[in-house]
Amino acid sequence: MIFIKTPEEIEKMRAACDLVSRTLGEVAKWVKPGVTTLKLDTIAREFILDNGGKPACLGYHGFPGTLCIEVNETVVHGFPSNYALREGDIVGTDCVAELDGWNGDSCYTFAVGEIDEKKQALLTVTRESLYRGIQAATAGKRIGDISNAVQTYCERHGYSVVREMCGHGIGKSMHEDPEVPNYGRRGIGPVLKPGMLICVEPMINMGSKNIVIERNGWECRTRDRKPSAHFEHTILITDGEPEILTTFDHIERALPGGAGEDKQEITINEG
Ligand code: MF3
Ligand code: CO
Repeated sequence: MIFIKTPEEIEKMRAACDLVSRTLGEVAKWVKPGVTTLKLDTIAREFILDNGGKPACLGYHGFPGTLCIEVNETVVHGFPSNYALREGDIVGTDCVAELDGWNGDSCYTFAVGEIDEKKQALLTVTRESLYRGIQAATAGKRIGDISNAVQTYCERHGYSVVREMCGHGIGKSMHEDPEVPNYGRRGIGPVLKPGMLICVEPMINMGSKNIVIERNGWECRTRDRKPSAHFEHTILITDGEPEILTTFDHIERALPGGAGEDKQEITINEG
């Protein structure tokens, strides 16, 4: 069942999305070599609580963190731990903040210090694929149009798309219908309608698409142990262009060299 949200509900979603975006902005200030992923988790949890929200992942089916931590080959659902970030790592932090009963969901993959060109390219292409997917999300089109935009763009750059995990609808629950796969054919799946809220979240591998779930039943990594990247926004389908309710502006202002400009749109050369 896909819910169409009322204007009042959308306002509450805006507030939850603002909170999760500001939370990741706080996390961004701490992403440096030597910092443990548990420290990042604590920053996120305290920020959400201090702002009247609830860390929605914490305790969700027993998940032990506020953030899902995705270091290098970890695709999704990594646990915060005593692991200290190292120069050259990439680390995804996926967060859901609940505010007034509504959920905002976003993920950003950070470079830790200087990273090599291959990892940087993976981040750039994955981030751009998120915006390509979002651009395809106009009313009257279908979920498959989003999926196809993400897949085509990433595969054109030689990367592979994780199959087992998808984006999703969102609202009072962090996961609602419809599923939003990052691969698939154009013109298939549910029709997009104004008032729908969905999360688009490409999970893109440098090597093969295959993944392994660790014995704890949560942590998911690439089978070939090559790096994986993950970016996510919560968006609103409208009569016109989709509206992105989460933002990376807080993150990018906090990063080294981030002068606070609006960098929502990036361009990379080919196609
Ligand atoms: N934020 C994730 C998503 O994008 C979900 C986290 S699962 C949890 O769907 F168990 F950690 F909450
Ligand atoms: Co999500």
